[in-house]
Amino acid sequence: MPQSRPAADGFAEAMVAGLSGQPRAVPCRYLYDSEGLALFERITELDEYYLSRTETALLAAHGGDIAARVGTGCRVVEFGAGSMAKSRLLLAALERPSTYVPIDIAADALTLAARRVSRVFPGLTVTPLAADFLRPLTLPPEVAGGGPVLEFFPGSTIGNLAPIEARDFLRRAARLAAPAGWLLVGVDLAKDPRVIEAAYDDVQGITAAFVRNLLARANRDLSADFDPESFDHIARWNARESRIEIHLVANCRQSASLAGRRFRFRRGDTIHVEDCYKYSVEQFRWLARAAGWQPEAVWIDPARLFSLHLLALPGGA
Ligand code: AVJ
Repeated sequence: MPQSRPAADGFAEAMVAGLSGQPRAVPCRYLYDSEGLALFERITELDEYYLSRTETALLAAHGGDIAARVGTGCRVVEFGAGSMAKSRLLLAALERPSTYVPIDIAADALTLAARRVSRVFPGLTVTPLAADFLRPLTLPPEVAGGGPVLEFFPGSTIGNLAPIEARDFLRRAARLAAPAGWLLVGVDLAKDPRVIEAAYDDVQGITAAFVRNLLARANRDLSADFDPESFDHIARWNARESRIEIHLVANCRQSASLAGRRFRFRRGDTIHVEDCYKYSVEQFRWLARAAGWQPEAVWIDPARLFSLHLLALPGGA
């Protein structure tokens, strides 16, 4: 890959706009370049980060129940497919799924992971779609028609969206699945803030490295000159908004240049880089109904850390 490829995804513009505003904030999608994805994979293996292993256990334990409810021959559409480890669990549990459409913005990783899935499931048509699932989508023509659509949105990635945005996303997902379809969505539960804060501030500092990668990425892709180590990472529970907020905090007075501009930071100045909203089962069901879905079932682990919701379109299935 060329060294200074222009970021076609608006990274430069987002950094300049985000660092010029007050409060400073950069959309969290820019954390997930290939370096960021690799660091996030390591986060999912941390003791403190209960989300991934709990959701995986829920899928393993309830795959049969999910399969029985959604029936045979589903077309599975996944939002933000990543490494597809959870997708494989789901696909293995379902009865003869016909098609699998993993959607992700990281095109190279998507192609590789999709190829691996098609090797494991020879009868399955795998049609990866490199796209931003937060924008309106249409399914590729070869996927149109056939069995019911089962949309899969794992990882509590929906928690990155503010509730209004989450509702709008759920509405678009309903339109994509219509007339008959399902959405299986992983949602992290609101709980003791200490448990949540630990998950986003691990002792090994992997999450800190993941968040500092935003600045390292700006150095790599935009020839900026941030010193990522001059920023600390903080994860703070905001009870009123029911979200964990992740910020980079300048630990000394400094400046950095980016795209011909100079950005100055005093010690303690912050850049808001991610929000992760947490819901109760009832709060999430309310949101789902507001978006036109019918809550069908919910699975929760014994420690009540994480929820897996199956939503249905009222007219369909
Ligand atoms: C990838 C959005 C699901 O919200 O838990 C993990 C991102 N950020 N640690 C999450 C994340 C810091 C993660 N999601």
